Amino acid sequence: MKKTLQNLDWSNLGFTYMDTDYRFISYWKDGQWDTGSLDSGNTVTINQGSTALHYGQQVFEGMKAYRTKEGDIQLFRPEENAKRMAKSCQRLMMPDYPVDQFVEAVKAVVKANESWVPPYESGSTLYIRPYMIGVGENIGVKPAAEYIFSIFVMPVGPYFKGGLTPTNFIVSDYDRAAPHGTGAAKVGGNYASSLMPGHLAHQRQFSDCIYLDPATHTKIEEVGSANFFAITHDDVFVTPYSPSILPSITKYSLLYLAEHHLGMKVSEGDVYLDQLGMFKEAGACGTAAVISPIGGIQNGEDFHVFYSETEVGPVTYELYRTLTAIQFGDLEAPEGWIVKI
Ligand code: PLP
Ligand code: COI
Repeated sequence: MKKTLQNLDWSNLGFTYMDTDYRFISYWKDGQWDTGSLDSGNTVTINQGSTALHYGQQVFEGMKAYRTKEGDIQLFRPEENAKRMAKSCQRLMMPDYPVDQFVEAVKAVVKANESWVPPYESGSTLYIRPYMIGVGENIGVKPAAEYIFSIFVMPVGPYFKGGLTPTNFIVSDYDRAAPHGTGAAKVGGNYASSLMPGHLAHQRQFSDCIYLDPATHTKIEEVGSANFFAITHDDVFVTPYSPSILPSITKYSLLYLAEHHLGMKVSEGDVYLDQLGMFKEAGACGTAAVISPIGGIQNGEDFHVFYSETEVGPVTYELYRTLTAIQFGDLEAPEGWIVKI
């Protein structure tokens, strides 16, 4: 059934695709972007030789629009997504989309779909998916001559089923990215390589995989769709640093909030798999995941439980409360974090 605003149950949305009214679309040809426009399409027709289809020349972003108590709509750090997409583009030899134009386009598409932004306190948000693909006639392994940049949106609920209820994760035998590969870029290939390990994890009732550092397989890197953090017994917020993980905007926001709002010590460094006993709490964080507490981690025959398999830990809860209060406009944000629609 095609969803309409009338038959949407805002408080029970999953993380599932839904058509909304408008998308933004822009074309790069002869070395420049056109002005771009909003239309009501939901398909793209591209040449069969497009590099996006054969050689994975495509990048994407994930962000959200939030409805405040007053009924306004706001974005969380959209320039950071624009800058990260520009870096992903550089890595795949794609033309970047200027940061200010990216933010304006996001604002325009959210405004045009304003009635699809879920109500305050419904537990849902408007997910925004910008992407760029290499298109046009091509067969050799080389950057495309033409590109499409588009942004579409849809209302979503929690990414991991439990929301703030902890779920369990499993250490994967596979890598999502190579040591000097594209792990830090938000490119489809990283997600393609995570599909099979993700499927194996789901088959065993785990929420997702934990990927280890691809060079030594001794340190936690990240989750397939979110970054990893943990809290030591003496309240240090720890998160892995690695050139092969996606630099999560949520994670860097949490690092700041843990230090400046919660008065915690923070550290970005190695998280050794054989030292999980150092931590009293752990979680996955990202735009889609928000903060998803990690109940336990399965590693081979070992199962390590952090705070609890059923209850969110107090520090994780406090981080969640602070982050979401800022995103929904209930707490003053650090300068520049909030962009009003
Ligand atoms: N890591 C991966 C692999 C992701 O797909 C995401 C989602 O965007 C994240 C981390 C979290 O990044 P962010 O907080 O910028 O959404
Ligand atoms: C996001 O959090 O925006 C992501 O991109 C994660 C996942 C849906 C791929």
